[in-house]
Amino acid sequence: MEKPKHHVFVCGSFRVAGDPKGICHRKDSGALVGYLETEVSDRGLDGVTVSAAGCLKLCEHGPVVVVYPEGHWYGKMDEERIDQMLDALEEGKPAEALLLA
Ligand code: FES
Repeated sequence: MEKPKHHVFVCGSFRVAGDPKGICHRKDSGALVGYLETEVSDRGLDGVTVSAAGCLKLCEHGPVVVVYPEGHWYGKMDEERIDQMLDALEEGKPAEALLLA
């Protein structure tokens, strides 16, 4: 198995019982997973894996996305902001204006 170069986690608001509850889910973060996967494929970004995650504990900033191993945390994500994030990722840098910290 080849490890991803970048692993993008999208908050799916999953709680311990597995139910999606929370701001990210209510703001349709599930659709962002599909959008990201399509964009990664369309852009031919090798080594980028997209996964839905449990609550990332920054709910008030939802939908939250984090990119590892860089540790870039993004908030209030939508398709336009994901495009900006991926543009920056392709350039090997964070989308500074979108970073939570
Ligand atoms: S529900 Fe997304 S960070 Fe908590």
